[in-house]
Amino acid sequence: MTGSQRIPRHVAIIMDGNGRWARSRGLPRVKGHEQGVERIRPIALACAERGVEYLTLYAFSTENWRRPRREVRALLQLLSRAMDRKGEAYLEDNIRLRLVGSVERLDPALQQKVNEAIELNQHNTGLTLCLAFDYGSRAEIVRAARTIASDLDGSEVTEETIEQRLYTAGMPDVDLLIRCGGEVRLSNYLMWQSAYAELYFTEVLWPDLDEAELDRAFGEFSRRNRRYGALDGGGDA
Ligand code: IPE
Ligand code: IPE
Ligand code: MG
Repeated sequence: MTGSQRIPRHVAIIMDGNGRWARSRGLPRVKGHEQGVERIRPIALACAERGVEYLTLYAFSTENWRRPRREVRALLQLLSRAMDRKGEAYLEDNIRLRLVGSVERLDPALQQKVNEAIELNQHNTGLTLCLAFDYGSRAEIVRAARTIASDLDGSEVTEETIEQRLYTAGMPDVDLLIRCGGEVRLSNYLMWQSAYAELYFTEVLWPDLDEAELDRAFGEFSRRNRRYGALDGGGDA
């Protein structure tokens, strides 16, 4: 990586491919999820080191509840374990945790664990690591619309009104969205926030994502020309 590279302020990652990672090794899918959880800290630290301010990781979508009960239970157990350990590890790493999504459907003990880990790390000043859990863009926008309907008269609604009611309120838009695992779709992820994100799709499965692939994504981001609908140079030619 060169010093002159443009670094994305907000990186979002769709952590996909855990199941295929396990299957290719003849292991049960849950082993892929376990391996996936292990990648979170190294990737977060690598992003922090490169100057990223926000990293938003898609951990569980509103549609993932459709998976077999056993798999959902295993994923919730992993979240619980990660929150036990993470509380402390993130203090050491100066990483702030934030929830982008909801814990409302979790049992109260797990909700408390997540909230405690967030609270423990709230004064950290480094990277903000956002956990997109029970997250879906459509549900997020519906939720925002509901609060607007009860708070405001429709004529007062602007883009800011909506932004302020999303889970990501106050965060910058996504600059770089990376999807692991070879699928080329958004799967209901950060659709509002990624309106002008640069998209990077890789065949690399999430449990195999390493710094070299992250740097390829950052390198590609740095070479992209972000016009935001205007002309190059931005003048009124
Ligand atoms: C991503 O890996 C993790 C979650 C969606 C929770 P998958 O479980 O979707 O893995 P593949 O896509 O089946 O390989
Ligand atoms: C997206 O992956 C959700 C997460 C990574 C948490 P999926 O595996 O659920 O997406 P689809 O079903 O292939 O679109
Ligand atoms: Mg998948």
